[in-house]
Amino acid sequence: MTTQNQRLLQWVGEITELCQPDHVHWCDGSQAEWDRLCNELVAAGTFIRLNPELRPNSFLARSHPADVARVEDRTYICSHRRVDAGPTNHWVDPAEMKATLRGLFRGSMRGRTLYVVPFCMGPLGSPFSLTGVQLTDSAYVAVSMRIMTRMGAAALEHLGEHGAFVPCLHSLGAPLAPGETDVPWPCNDTKYIVHFPEERSIWSFGSGYGGNALLGKKCLALRIASAVAHDEGWLAEHMLISGVEAPDGRKTYVTAAFPSACGKTNFAMLVPPRSYQNAGWKVTTIGDDIAWLRVDDDGRLRAINPEAGYFGVAPGTSWESNPNAMTTVRANSIFTNVALTPDGDVWWEGLTEQPPAGLTDWMGRAWSPELGQPAAHPNSRFTAPASQCPTIDPAWDDPSGVPISAIIFGGRRATTMPLVFQAFNWVHGVFLGSNMGSETTAAAAGATGQVRRDPMAMLPFCGYNMGDYFNHWIEMRRHIRHLPRIFHVNWFRRDAEGRFQWPGFGENMRVLHWIFDRCHGRARGHETQLGWMPRYDEINFEGLESFTREDFDRVMNVDPQEWRREILSAEELYLSLYDHLPKELVFQRELLAGRV
Ligand code: OXD
Ligand code: MN
Repeated sequence: MTTQNQRLLQWVGEITELCQPDHVHWCDGSQAEWDRLCNELVAAGTFIRLNPELRPNSFLARSHPADVARVEDRTYICSHRRVDAGPTNHWVDPAEMKATLRGLFRGSMRGRTLYVVPFCMGPLGSPFSLTGVQLTDSAYVAVSMRIMTRMGAAALEHLGEHGAFVPCLHSLGAPLAPGETDVPWPCNDTKYIVHFPEERSIWSFGSGYGGNALLGKKCLALRIASAVAHDEGWLAEHMLISGVEAPDGRKTYVTAAFPSACGKTNFAMLVPPRSYQNAGWKVTTIGDDIAWLRVDDDGRLRAINPEAGYFGVAPGTSWESNPNAMTTVRANSIFTNVALTPDGDVWWEGLTEQPPAGLTDWMGRAWSPELGQPAAHPNSRFTAPASQCPTIDPAWDDPSGVPISAIIFGGRRATTMPLVFQAFNWVHGVFLGSNMGSETTAAAAGATGQVRRDPMAMLPFCGYNMGDYFNHWIEMRRHIRHLPRIFHVNWFRRDAEGRFQWPGFGENMRVLHWIFDRCHGRARGHETQLGWMPRYDEINFEGLESFTREDFDRVMNVDPQEWRREILSAEELYLSLYDHLPKELVFQRELLAGRV
């Protein structure tokens, strides 16, 4: 495969000289290439081919036990000035960081192949899309990128002779001496996930896992893209995108931001209750993790999903909780750190109530429940093509994206936060997003826990100063003529006994229906201290008659004492951002304090 893009050719030359791989392979993204690389990964012991009858063209990978998740404490935003990274990011002077990285990358690919992986984030041919090229010495990363992005010859063509791309350099940091045998999951104890937002480049060293290594996702599509979006006047957000279709065919698209462990993929692939299905309501999926939002010529906010695949957390995913995800992973998927069944299929906690006998755990050991340890790692993942999702929206690959009518923020909160309310206006909505918080799972399981503030679910993913980010959100208001309505939801409220007060999952459709009606001016709601709230008779409870008016009042309850604590606890993040915090948000806090 060839390109005339001189900048790319020159960069590949420079990196080849620095990292000294034995071979260089330009990925074309073809099926033949996938087959060859997967066979090589099987031969190397990195992949286990799953039973082709149960899980065709699919593989299991087991990572090194110390390389199982994103490493936020090793993640850096190296802007020229520390203040531009802000207090919520790790920062090192870029020149100093480059010197460190050059030392680490020198000779780091010896004995290995350097894969040149051109990829397009966003639909091919879309003016919204960004091109990246990842240079990596991991074949696992190369094949994963084929699922997660538009990868190979088509991306190179999209780039063209003069196009700009985000250089994404990645090394496992595990060079091989001549004759040295490889391990199944090479990596390095030293890890660096580094972003240079002004230069728009990414250097990742030492990890082969997930967001550390598939550089199109968190690194490019969120950290770098958020900085680009700030400069260019759009938004790169940690949000799912889904469509709601009413029986009369009217379609409304929403985006939603939830921190990790709040059922984002389940919500993106929501299956409406039977009564809704019978009436003709449909929910469609565009993205489960990232949305890029731009204002079109009519002043409407439009979203694309920059990704082409789902990299979802496996545990908890089941035919009950998320049948659409189960169908999505039926074939052509890579599973990492899940358990293996004796007949060559995958298993994880929550997939079935009873684990099958004879499991092999994520570390390759014979497993039994008596061990008292999970068979699949809690952060084990599936990597599956978006096109295989049965509810994929017909417009998911549309180069102009879909128009967004509502933005939903949420978190896991045992108390305080009602099931749903609507912000009074855009700035109030930004305020709600900036205060987003979620309790740790352990906390939600009983004791009142610490709330971790995770503004817009972007805390680990904002590529610049969080205060400037809030300001950018407020500024966007000027450019959007048809402002989406902003909502806050909480599926996780508990009673005094620790039981969930709202059934969640498909029943969330009822809340989505109210949001739909608000967007179409059909639900009047009523004004409260927090925002606009649904009246009991504005939520359709058909088929959920067991949920009484009293239950509804409880799940919507606003307790002034809890809200006093809420305002105080949210203050901490604001204090750390004080010199970059937009005054509009300070006013919003004052107004809220006054109202409650
Ligand atoms: C993810 C995350 O993996 O948000 O998507 O951590
Ligand atoms: Mn995510």
